Amino acid sequence: MFNEKVLNWYLKNKRDLPWRTTKKPYYIWLSEIMLQQTRVAQGLPYFLKFKEAFPTVGDLANADESYVLKLWQGLGYYSRARNLHYTAKHIVNNLNSSFPDNYNDLLKLKGVGDYTASAIASICYNETSAVVDGNVYRVLARYFGIHTPTNTSKGIKDFKELAQTLIDTNNPGTYNQAIMDFGATQCKPQNPLCDVCPLNDSCIALKNNNIKNLPVKEKKIKVKKRYFNYLVITNSNNETILKQRKGKGIWEGLYEFPLIETSKDINEEDLIKHPSFKSLLNKETSIKLFNHKKIVHKLSHQHLHTQFWIVNISHIKEELISWNNIWEYPVPILIHNFLENYLKDKN
Ligand code: ADE
Repeated sequence: MFNEKVLNWYLKNKRDLPWRTTKKPYYIWLSEIMLQQTRVAQGLPYFLKFKEAFPTVGDLANADESYVLKLWQGLGYYSRARNLHYTAKHIVNNLNSSFPDNYNDLLKLKGVGDYTASAIASICYNETSAVVDGNVYRVLARYFGIHTPTNTSKGIKDFKELAQTLIDTNNPGTYNQAIMDFGATQCKPQNPLCDVCPLNDSCIALKNNNIKNLPVKEKKIKVKKRYFNYLVITNSNNETILKQRKGKGIWEGLYEFPLIETSKDINEEDLIKHPSFKSLLNKETSIKLFNHKKIVHKLSHQHLHTQFWIVNISHIKEELISWNNIWEYPVPILIHNFLENYLKDKN
């Protein structure tokens, strides 16, 4: 049995850690918040410092935030420290200095997410709630040969469900710490100790020579922000301008209003001064922003922050088309949606 083997391994190999001698939720909370995104070896001295400076949740609540941050210095992710302080005050002021005693109520605390709520609920209150941290992802992905990326909503859901089916219901807190320790020191990211692993006769990744490839993380593509200003030109002859997009890039061959792309959001005053605006419309022109509510059109790699400017002109040298024919042109859905709104208002 998977969980039996992990528990047995833990009884022989567990690390001696200062928060393992207590079930006081204050200390468990403190240690688990510190150990998120931080290795045990790095977090340990901070835990000892905090325990000494703030032996109770009341001491932490009464401290100056700057002192809390000072002691936190070097651990990174400072919002964790601010949330810690905030939650200590909340517990003292609103919860009569006692910690919530179950997963659901723990989850309501600021700075406490699924991982921390499960850790505290299982370790302090024996609740059967499986923790899933980076170690658990690695152990489960390898042992069960799971290739679902762990940083996707499907991955997060699937691994949590699987972990929940494996947890030892008699010793949930011990089991949770066992699988984390197992991941940290046995089923390590690099050079795991497969030769001496108690699970090596049934580990799918080991069998398929896939240890190095698991777990899978999806590469988060950087989304580029672009700022589009469309000039929706209109004259007294009921005409406008559409231009066909040329070249590679998005929407090749489709039509759109004359576009001024800027490096950030731009207001009316700056738009009028923009060289592209001046070269297109050299006369005094009245312009008005159509969408006061921001339109962010999301493509896979880019978010187009779009403003449509209504521009009334008398005459212009560009090629004009009649508004009556506007629907004949293939346009991106962004333009299509605008046209529906605009023409509904206009007619
Ligand atoms: N990493 C974070 N919390 C842990 C715990 N309680 N045991 C082992 N590893 C951990």
